[in-house]
Amino acid sequence: MPVQNSLMDIKNLHIHFNMRQGVVRAVDGASFQIAPGQIIGLVGESGCGKSVTSRALLRIEAPGKIIAGEILYHSQDNSTQQLNQLDPCGDTIRALRGRDIAMIFQEPMTSFGPMHTIGAQVREAILVHHPMSKKEAWHLAVEALKWARFPNPENVAGRFPHQLSGGMRQRAMIAMALSCRPRLLIADEPTTALDVSTEAQILDLLSERQESLGMAILYITHNLAVISQIAQIVMVMYLGKIVEQAVTETLFNAPKHPYTRALLESIPRLDREPGARLAVIKGMLPDPYKRPTGCPFHPRCSMMIPELCPIDDPAMTVTSDGSRVACHLYKN
Ligand SMILES: Nc1ncnc2c1ncn2[C@@H]1O[C@H](COP(=O)(O)OP(=O)(O)O)[C@@H](O)[C@H]1O
Ligand code: SF4
Ligand SMILES: [Mg+2]
Repeated sequence: MPVQNSLMDIKNLHIHFNMRQGVVRAVDGASFQIAPGQIIGLVGESGCGKSVTSRALLRIEAPGKIIAGEILYHSQDNSTQQLNQLDPCGDTIRALRGRDIAMIFQEPMTSFGPMHTIGAQVREAILVHHPMSKKEAWHLAVEALKWARFPNPENVAGRFPHQLSGGMRQRAMIAMALSCRPRLLIADEPTTALDVSTEAQILDLLSERQESLGMAILYITHNLAVISQIAQIVMVMYLGKIVEQAVTETLFNAPKHPYTRALLESIPRLDREPGARLAVIKGMLPDPYKRPTGCPFHPRCSMMIPELCPIDDPAMTVTSDGSRVACHLYKN
């Protein structure tokens, strides 16, 4: 699936954590592209490397280390910056964070400090990148809260984070993240801690802001049902690798990789026969210190080819309907 006009190119990224017990290969050769204005979903079981991958795009991978690979950012002026070569504490990446690439997390309290009002914190986020008077920045902060669908944004601006509900805090964090109109928003499980109706509101808000601002979103979740509601393209990650990437409709209607199929079989569906049991993916994610050889999914795969899969790690292949899949069943 070639991306015409790329915002970011991630090539063969490897990120390791050196622990006393051994090396955790959290990201193990992930490659993907993000196009401007695209909503791209990243899905996979907990611990597969979604957060480590996405944080590395902002160079906040420590204590992990980028061992190999490239993270290319194509700026609006058509220049390309190799983010993996930047000092993670240096001015260049700090100028990009928040202004070009913003991030929201599962827990908004990691973004908001407890001691200042929401308005003051959104105002400071604006002032980091755009020199203007405090009054002007306050006005923009209130405007950003209005975009985030607070009926009374001035009132919310004057409140402290602990005075808001979880869903309101999440909307305020989105307001802060979007206040500088970033070109890419990384949303790492932003609705996982919320109830279903608040989750629906947040997904709707993000889709609407994405359309009006024309920004790209990298939406991360372990929940395929959520990804189907927001993403145009879905990437499935397993043990630090992208094992399948497809247009959302194709991924759901014609999944290729046995891991994607197993994930899809494990989500509840309304058309399932009453009483039918959900399939559970066989086995557990392997111990991070003992990665399987060959195809990383082979110990859990019902389609495993014994003489091939435990030995040879399959390369990515493009199928006739445009999906990209790393599995020996789809070799050209
Ligand atoms: N600070 C850390 N120290 C050691 N290992 C880590 C650290 N952060 C993440 N990891 C490991 O990296 C792997 C990927 O983690 P993560 O990206 O957080 O998974 P996900 O977001 O998909 O649930 C896991 O094995 C996790 O234990
Ligand atoms: S390469 Fe083999 S083990 Fe891996 S997913 Fe495909 S069939 Fe299963
Ligand atoms: Mg995570």
